Amino acid sequence: MSEILFEPFRIKVVEPIKMSTREEREIFIREAGYNVFNLRAEDVLIDLLTDSGTSAMSQEQWAALQTGDESYAGSKSFFALESIAKEIFQKHTIIPVHQGRAGEHLVFSTLVSEGDIVPSNSHFDTTAANVADNGGNPVNFQIEEALDASCWHPFKGNMNIEKLEKLLETESEKVPFVVLTITNNAGGGQPVSLANVKQVADVCEKFDKPLLIDACRFAENAYFIKKREEGYSDWSAKEIAQEVFRYASLVTFSAKKDALANVGGLVCLDDADLAEKLKNRLIVTEGFPTYGGLAGRDLAAIAQGLKEVLDENYLRYRLRTIEWMVERLVDNGVPVVVPAGGHAFYLDVARFLPHLSAEQLPGIAIVVELYVRGGIRAVELGHVAFGKQLDSGCDMHPRLDLVRFAMPRRVYTEAHAGYVVEQIIRLYHDKDNVKGYRFYFEAPVMRHFRSTFAPLVPGTSHGVSFYHT
Ligand code: F0G
Repeated sequence: MSEILFEPFRIKVVEPIKMSTREEREIFIREAGYNVFNLRAEDVLIDLLTDSGTSAMSQEQWAALQTGDESYAGSKSFFALESIAKEIFQKHTIIPVHQGRAGEHLVFSTLVSEGDIVPSNSHFDTTAANVADNGGNPVNFQIEEALDASCWHPFKGNMNIEKLEKLLETESEKVPFVVLTITNNAGGGQPVSLANVKQVADVCEKFDKPLLIDACRFAENAYFIKKREEGYSDWSAKEIAQEVFRYASLVTFSAKKDALANVGGLVCLDDADLAEKLKNRLIVTEGFPTYGGLAGRDLAAIAQGLKEVLDENYLRYRLRTIEWMVERLVDNGVPVVVPAGGHAFYLDVARFLPHLSAEQLPGIAIVVELYVRGGIRAVELGHVAFGKQLDSGCDMHPRLDLVRFAMPRRVYTEAHAGYVVEQIIRLYHDKDNVKGYRFYFEAPVMRHFRSTFAPLVPGTSHGVSFYHT
C-alpha cells in the first residue's frame, strides 16, 4: 500500500476563490469591526470558520435533491430519512428539525425548568445557551487530561464520571437529563470512548436519568473508537455508531455536520409520551412532524448523506487530514491541542501569544492576524466565546483558550491544508509583533458571534481611555 493517502473523490464542480491582497483585507476586517463573522464570505480565501453546513455534497446527494417529495404531510423523502436514521440512531421516533439547535430548543424547552442543572462532558455554545434560556445551569465535567492542551490522551472527550456521580448523589432532583457530546467540539473535537459511554449510561440508570447524546459528529467519533479503543478494530464504523446509540435515551443531531448536508437536524427517541409532546410543540415552532421546517429535498439529501458518512475510506481521509495538519504544526513547535480532533484543530492561545493577557483577547488577535496575512478565517473559542463578566464585574475565564480551524467536509485539498499550516507557522515566528484587542461592543450572549473589537494602541498602558475606538 502507498504511504500517500489521497482525497477519496474527484472534483466535478468547482467554486472559484476570489483572490485578495493583504491591504484589501486590512480594510475588510476594519469594516467588519475586527470580527470575522461580519466579513463577506467572498472576501475569505480559505474558510475554516465552521464545518457546519459547509460540506460539499456528493453527486448522489445532488441527484437525491431532484427526487425530493415536497408534500406537506407524509413525504416520501421523510420515510427514506426515517428509515436510515432509525438504523443508525437505533430509536423508534425520528423527528426532523431545521438544524441542531432547533432540536435542542424543542427538547430543552420541554424538559428543563428554572434552577435545573444539566451536566455534560462539554456543552457546545448552543446547548449551553438552550439550557440557560430555559432557566437551567449547564455544567461541564471534562476529564482532567482534557484541560491540558498538550496532554496526549486517546479519548479526551470523555465525561468525568466521578464528578457526574457526585452531582447526582447530592442534587439528583435538579438534573433532568445528562448530555454526552460526541465528539466534544468545545474542547478540541476530541472523541468519547465506548467504555465511557457505557459508564455514563450506567450512572444515568442508577439515578434514573435519561442520557441525551448530542450526536453532531457521531461518524468521526465511531472511527476514532475503531482506531483507538481496544476491542473494536474489527467492527465497522456503522456497528460502532449503532452500539453507542443503544445507550442513549435521546439523540439530538445537526445534519449540517455528519450528514454531509447543508441544513437540517433530527431528534431521535424511544419514549412515546415525550415524542407526542415534542411533535405537538414541533408543529408550533418548526412544522408538521414529517418535514420539521425542511424542504422535502433537504430530507432526501440528509438521508443520502447518512448513507455516505460511515464509509471508512471517507472517514480515514477525514481524520487523517486534521492529523496531518497537527503533525506539521507540532513539528514546527506551534502550540496546538493534541491529539488531533476529528473535524478541526485548535491552537492553544495562551502558549501561542504568552505576552498577551486574557483581557487583551489574544484569540481574537490570532484570528484577525491570520485573516489579514493569509485570508484564512478561523474562530475564537475561548475567553470571548465561553468567558463572561460576572455581576461583580470580574471576568470568568474558561480553562481552555482556543482558536479553532474547522475543516468543511470534502471541500479543501491537501494544498489548501498545507497553505493554512504554512501561514500559521509564519505567524507563530512573528508572534511577538502581534498586538491585543478589546471589546468595542460586547454582545450579551455567545459573544464571539456578534461582538465587535478594537485594536489596542501600541505602546500605551491598558487604561480604557488609551484605546482606539
Ligand atoms: N452541538 C454541537 C456539538 C455543535 O457543534 C453544534 C453546532 C450544535 C450542537 C448545533 O447545531 O448549528 O445545526 O444548530 N456547531 C457549529 C460549529 C455551529 O461551528 O461548531 P446547529
